[in-house]
Amino acid sequence: MKVVKNISEVKNIVNEWKQQGCTIGFVPTMGYLHEGHGSLVVKAMENSKVVVSIFVNPMQFGPTEDLDKYPRDLEKDSKYCKELGVDLIFNPEPGEMYPEGYCTSVDISGLSEELCGLSRPVHFKGVCTVVNKLLNIVNPDKAYFGEKDAQQLAIIRRMVKDLSMNVEIVGCPIIREKDGLAKSSRNTYLSSEERRAALALSKSIFAGKDMVKEGCREVDILLKKMKDIINEEPLARIDYLKAVDAMTMQQVDTIDRPVLIAMAVYIGKVRLIDNFSFIPG
Ligand code: PAJ
Repeated sequence: MKVVKNISEVKNIVNEWKQQGCTIGFVPTMGYLHEGHGSLVVKAMENSKVVVSIFVNPMQFGPTEDLDKYPRDLEKDSKYCKELGVDLIFNPEPGEMYPEGYCTSVDISGLSEELCGLSRPVHFKGVCTVVNKLLNIVNPDKAYFGEKDAQQLAIIRRMVKDLSMNVEIVGCPIIREKDGLAKSSRNTYLSSEERRAALALSKSIFAGKDMVKEGCREVDILLKKMKDIINEEPLARIDYLKAVDAMTMQQVDTIDRPVLIAMAVYIGKVRLIDNFSFIPG
């Protein structure tokens, strides 16, 4: 397994693989890898070569967000990737991705203004720009994204369709800790008391899932129950908890089409997200 910091070197390696007839699977990440990322890599093994990018993208962090303290451990990540059978890690410096004079961005309206876009106004512009650039560099047949970041996945699908990009986007299910908490690099910020309190998110998600499975189609009733569960936890503060159309991210009152029920909740100062999707039969 190679670790490459340079854009042109990645392009050369991938070109060579393509000439040999290989298919390329790509998993973009910000590193500090856990089994959530690992599940995308395992799925990407359906290709002949797997590329993982590890890049904490400054463009997708707001000025008061956690860019500087975002956890990083390239050595551990490399070991994990090697064990999983990854062929290439792309780990550029910010200056390689955004050299002096860089001024292009990819913005997507509508979908990016709801949910996380409300409290993180620059976030999805940064995500779309970096993912677009990474896809141009790696030029994969398929790229793998987690449903953990459901709005991100919907936005990237939209971008790829709107810009007629030559890549298939594959969505992968949320991987959870044994007690239900969705795995996240940001879970490392939680104190032990906050870690316990963070279970409010998955408890609420599981209760919501059960309600819609049992036939609840009224969003008011569903969200009230889900909010009550979170509000029982004194350390939890809801940023948003909404039901939206799974394609457009616009709010719905009734579950009469594929919907995404998504939340962001502060546990102390740590902002965590979780969600589930439902397609009525
Ligand atoms: P990051 O948060 O590192 O996540 C990389 C990928 O792993 C994303 O597609 C995310 O949805 C997926 N992932 C994270 N936790 C998961 C879990 N518990 N189960 C399943 N998949 C999970 O998302 C980003 O990085 C960045 O925004 C990026 C797309 C790399 C652009 O910078």
